[in-house]
Order: sequence, then C-alpha cells, then structure tokens
Amino acid sequence: MEKINKKWLLKKRPKGMPDDSCWKLEESPIKELEDNQILIKVMWLSIDPYMRGRMNDMKSYTDPVALGEVMTGESVGQVIQSRSDKFQIGDYVAAHLGWQSYIRCNAENPALMRIFPDLAPIQAFLGPAGMPGRTAYFGLKEVGKVKETDTVVVSAASGAVGSVVGQMAKAIGCKTIGIAGGKKKCDFVKDVMGLDYAIDYKSKTFKEDLTKACSNGVDIYFENVGGEVSKAVAELLNPGARVPICGFISAYNSFNSDSSKLPETPFDIFGALNPVPEHRFFVVTEFINDWDRATQELTEWMRQGKIKYKETVLKNIESAPQGLRDVLSGKNFGKQLIKVSD
Ligand SMILES: NC(=O)c1ccc[n+]([C@@H]2O[C@H](COP(=O)([O-])OP(=O)(O)OC[C@H]3O[C@@H](n4cnc5c(N)ncnc54)[C@H](OP(=O)(O)O)[C@@H]3O)[C@@H](O)[C@H]2O)c1
Repeated sequence: MEKINKKWLLKKRPKGMPDDSCWKLEESPIKELEDNQILIKVMWLSIDPYMRGRMNDMKSYTDPVALGEVMTGESVGQVIQSRSDKFQIGDYVAAHLGWQSYIRCNAENPALMRIFPDLAPIQAFLGPAGMPGRTAYFGLKEVGKVKETDTVVVSAASGAVGSVVGQMAKAIGCKTIGIAGGKKKCDFVKDVMGLDYAIDYKSKTFKEDLTKACSNGVDIYFENVGGEVSKAVAELLNPGARVPICGFISAYNSFNSDSSKLPETPFDIFGALNPVPEHRFFVVTEFINDWDRATQELTEWMRQGKIKYKETVLKNIESAPQGLRDVLSGKNFGKQLIKVSD
C-alpha cells in the first residue's frame, strides 16, 4: 500500500501564542527512494521551546523557518527502507528534519544521528539522552564551570533541560535549588529528583522562599525562563557567580516579527547589575564535537538511576501545534513528546 507522509508546514507568522492557523497539515505520497537515500518511519516527535522563535522572521543564532517550509523539529524513528550502506533496515535514528510522519532523505544528511535502544528508550534521545540533556550537560559544566562547593539554582527545574541540570549538580555535590511552577512539579523536583529545595515561583511567598533557600547566595543560576524569576535570583548572586543563559521562555511569545519594542531579556536584567556577573547565551551546537561523550555519560547516569525524568505525551502528528502551545504555557510536565507511530 502506498505510504502517505503527513507534514506540518509553516503558513503564517504568529503574534503571541501560535494558533492552528499558523500551520497547514499537508499529506503527500512518498516517492521511491533514489540511490543513497533512506526512509524513516517517525515514532516520536520532540516539541521544544526554541520552535516558537523559529516561527518569527527575526535574526537569531539560526535562520527562521520559511513560510511554506516544514516546521522545524527533531524526531526519532526506524529506518524502514534503505538504498545506502550507512543505514540498514531496522536501525534507529534521530533526525532533525521537521514535523513529519515519514522522512525520506539522503543517508549522509548531517541532521541524522544513529541512536541505540540498548542505551535508553528511544524517545529519551529527544530528552535526557538527547539535545535537552546535552544542553544541560554543557551549560552546567562548560558555561557554568560548576564546582562541588557551588550553590546552583535552576529554573524550569522539572523540565527537559532543567531536570538534568538539577540532578547533575546534585550528583556533583552542589547545594541545589529548583524553581518550578506549582506543587506537582515542585514535589517532583524535591522528592523524585532529590534537589535540596524546590521553590514555586507561582506562590505568593516566592521571593521569601527563594531567599531562605539560598541562605549563602547563588553561585550558578542556570537560566531557562527570564522575567520575574530572573530578577529574584539576580538579587542573590554571589561575587564570581556564573549565569549560563540557556533560554528565557517567559518572553518567547512577546518576540514577534513586526513588533518594534523587544521584551526584556536576561541580558537586560543581569547586564544592569553592579558588578555585572559572568553571563552569556550558549547553544548546545557549540559543543557538537563532544556530543558523543555527553550522550555516553548521560545514558550511563540514567542507567544508574541518577537521572530521573518525566514525559508528557500527546498522540498523533496532528497534535504537534497543541504540544507547542502546552510547552509555552507550562502545561507540559517534563519532556513534551508527540507519539507519531508505534
Ligand atoms: N540554548 C540551547 O541550546 C537550548 C537547548 C534546549 C533548550 N533551551 C532552552 O531551555 C529552556 C527549557 O527548555 P526545555 O526544552 O527543557 O522545556 P521544558 O522545561 O521541558 O518546558 C518548558 C517549561 O518552561 C516553563 N515556562 C513556560 N512558560 C513560562 C513562563 N511564562 N514563566 C516561567 N516559566 C515558564 C514551564 O515550566 P513551569 O511550569 O515550571 O513554569 C514549562 O513546562 C527553554 O528556555 C529553551 O528555550 C536552550
């Protein structure tokens, strides 16, 4: 039977939270493979905060998605046809080739990465064993220059990146404080991830609770959210503190292609302090040459039970836009995934 690929194309640039009219679901028959091509059946699609930024026609560290182009995203799946020696039928791969249910591509495409299900469940290669895990790993070690005597604060602490940051810092011996939204997420941060403190930024007593938990100040603030959370942590930074700026999700819906005024960012908040703490934005791809080492360590820690993580799953490729809205509004709990096929 002819296979049909379903793919989400970007149709319109959003203002604020992206609604369904921003995308179009297109169905097309899959053509026969040419030499050196493979066909991947996608099983899981990752939904990540950066996708919102790529919907804007704005300069950033990478190009925006063009209108009419497949929405950007990483997925994992299995090779079901191959005309290449590089991949055999049955191999599992991660592919950064967009929101689609099948991927037909050249086997040499640099967006492909072989993954190994004996190391971790395949969807974990979109979470703690994949891009978010590596982001945590390099952000904490290389940008944060973590030491065991540090007090480490991480925001979006129950999420895909934050949960790995917090547990890595704990395993290194740091005093660890995770900031998250609501009791359920905070209970996970404290009781399951095992951080020393979990602070709810939605609570009326947020600033007092944070100040009490950070009784000796803060040496590393791993920035994921921006806004009021960053302002509260900024007051507690110790001399010599480092602030790896991984992201600032609270502002993502306020960056719009046609807005003249940019929202406040962590660069405004930390740059205005006196003295200015060491702070910089980093992208996980800066460390691409060391990705294998990070994956190895992360999967080993997962195997030893040192990294625990949550997943939130929506079914079918049709749910991808809703998945993105859920991530941008904090409805996800842990890694947001779309189960595309069995
Ligand atoms: N630089 C890089 O290379 C890189 C790579 C991956 C990710 N990132 C960044 O890392 C951060 C976390 O990404 P992730 O994939 O791990 O996502 P995630 O934490 O799994 O999910 C996003 C979380 O952000 C929090 N959030 C949403 N809106 C918020 C708001 N207005 N104020 C405060 N918190 C809000 C929510 O948690 P609560 O319910 O706890 O608020 C939500 O669950 C993002 O900023 C992302 O852009 C950067």
